Amino acid sequence: MGLKIIKKIEDYKNFYKDFLYNKKIGFVPTMGALHEGHLSLLKKAKENNDVAIMSIFVNPIQFGENEDFDKYPRTIEKDIFLAEKLGIDIVFYTDENELYPQKQTFFVSSDSIMFTSRLCANTRKNHFKGVATIVTKLFNIIKPNVAYFGQKDYQQFLLIKNMVKELNMDVNIQMCPIIREEDGLAKSSRNIYLKDKERQEATILYKALKLGEKILTSSQDLLDNIKLAKEEIENLINSSKLLKIDYISICNASLLEEITKKDLEKKNSINVLIAIAVYIGNTRLIDNEIVSVKIN
Ligand code: PAJ
Repeated sequence: MGLKIIKKIEDYKNFYKDFLYNKKIGFVPTMGALHEGHLSLLKKAKENNDVAIMSIFVNPIQFGENEDFDKYPRTIEKDIFLAEKLGIDIVFYTDENELYPQKQTFFVSSDSIMFTSRLCANTRKNHFKGVATIVTKLFNIIKPNVAYFGQKDYQQFLLIKNMVKELNMDVNIQMCPIIREEDGLAKSSRNIYLKDKERQEATILYKALKLGEKILTSSQDLLDNIKLAKEEIENLINSSKLLKIDYISICNASLLEEITKKDLEKKNSINVLIAIAVYIGNTRLIDNEIVSVKIN
């Protein structure tokens, strides 16, 4: 078929009616500035579906007032080149006039403290409302069968997974592993903001996750290990003058809540999420790891 770039919602709807209604559609929503993390999602969409579609849209309503919406990297030509190389069928490259033709007055948001006050939600106040709203809009337009999200933004994946379930949306949500640089730094469109020295120290994030994993899987009591891991991670991050902690959370991976003695009863193992957010200069970086811990 060759890569097709569609910019208008109406054009996509017509194309869908004519050619896509009976196809299995794999969808990867992105904000562009593609790197290998995005490409890994696109490859999965391509391999497992009849049609692979990517959207590129830097969504203003998921950025806070003091965040980087204006300077967010926009590299559309390179993105289209990469999509074509991977054999992606459609790039839905649209803009604010199409998606927010008037001031948006309906939103999709969660009442759950998982998405209003835990981890990133605590620092980025309306972020997840912006994400849930745009992803719903994109799902309504594209009508995908399967949509792919990265573990890199684990809380976002959980948000979408829960949203689809509670709102009975007919989309299968798949999580894909975190793609990293050779030194462990998770690939991110925001890494280009980092100056040389900052880039070097950013590897502490991955080292901190590995340290946490080591402590959590050691044979002592899990609740003691969690406490120790948090302290050690905090010390490691604070050993760099360039890093400022936003949060360190070691919690239940499915509910994002603190693990208590009760959670460990009658269980053989538990998935523990180690999630970290730091500022390096003005750049905010996040990373995480899910550790499956055996309970003795
Ligand atoms: P964006 O940051 O462009 O990310 C698009 C997708 O790529 C997300 O699912 C994200 O988790 C995944 N991704 C990013 N870095 C990754 C990495 N290193 N390894 C694996 N996957 C990675 O996330 C968004 O856009 C937006 O919030 C969006 C869902 C498009 C809504 O606007």
